[in-house]
Amino acid sequence: MHTNVNTLFEKLWESYLAVTPSAVTVHNLFGQTQGQEVINDHIALRTFNLPGIGLDALAAHFEALGYKACGEYHFVGKKLYAKHFEHSENPDLPKVFISELLLEQCSESLQQTIRSLVSNMSADAVTQDNFLYSGRHWDVDYATYQQLLQESEFAAWVAAWGYRANHFTVSNNHLSEFDSIEQINQAVKAAGLSLNTAGGEIKGSVEVMLEQSSTLADKHPVAFTDGERDIPSCFYEFAKRYPKPDGKLFTGFVAESADKIFESTNAR
Ligand code: NI
Repeated sequence: MHTNVNTLFEKLWESYLAVTPSAVTVHNLFGQTQGQEVINDHIALRTFNLPGIGLDALAAHFEALGYKACGEYHFVGKKLYAKHFEHSENPDLPKVFISELLLEQCSESLQQTIRSLVSNMSADAVTQDNFLYSGRHWDVDYATYQQLLQESEFAAWVAAWGYRANHFTVSNNHLSEFDSIEQINQAVKAAGLSLNTAGGEIKGSVEVMLEQSSTLADKHPVAFTDGERDIPSCFYEFAKRYPKPDGKLFTGFVAESADKIFESTNAR
């Protein structure tokens, strides 16, 4: 476990950037050229609900650094369960959204494939400092990836990329030059990046106190056992939060919107 939360986020950022070159473009749009630091609203991680490597095992790394569980979410169609975590003392630290695939709801063949991949992990991998950005702990061939893809895009993504941040999220609330997600979307498209249009370019609304959009994941080479292939890696998300009736900003997530954000890594 890391003892410094900033170090953990720096390492997560480095491993994300290594497979997501477009994140530099996004950072240039909203950070450097505006003369300000990009504040991330949240990051997201994915896993399987197998003993020892489930959502809770990933969360333990953040809980050891002062994070606490704040909300839970069900994605019935995608067979996913998720929780979000917030830092108990510093609200400016990114929130953390962790999702897990509910394997018992998947086909016998998918379960067997995933159990077999995961059986290659060393017993202590999950508690190592670097676990959350350690990538893949198994070999996988392209046919297996494609087979997983047919049933669960989520399963295929984790099988190919392993443990790393799936996305970072620019906080619109912290940007002085951009008032809306619409404006952000225009700038992102003008920079040549593609947006995820599942459920519309903007997911959510003022009414649900959260608006989100995201780029489509970069295509990045992965080393499969039978050769290298370009597949969807990671993406950047944008979030604008609105106040609750008590005047404080809503800090949760909207399942209906998150459901569509998942599709940013769809292989098209
Ligand atoms: Ni997100």
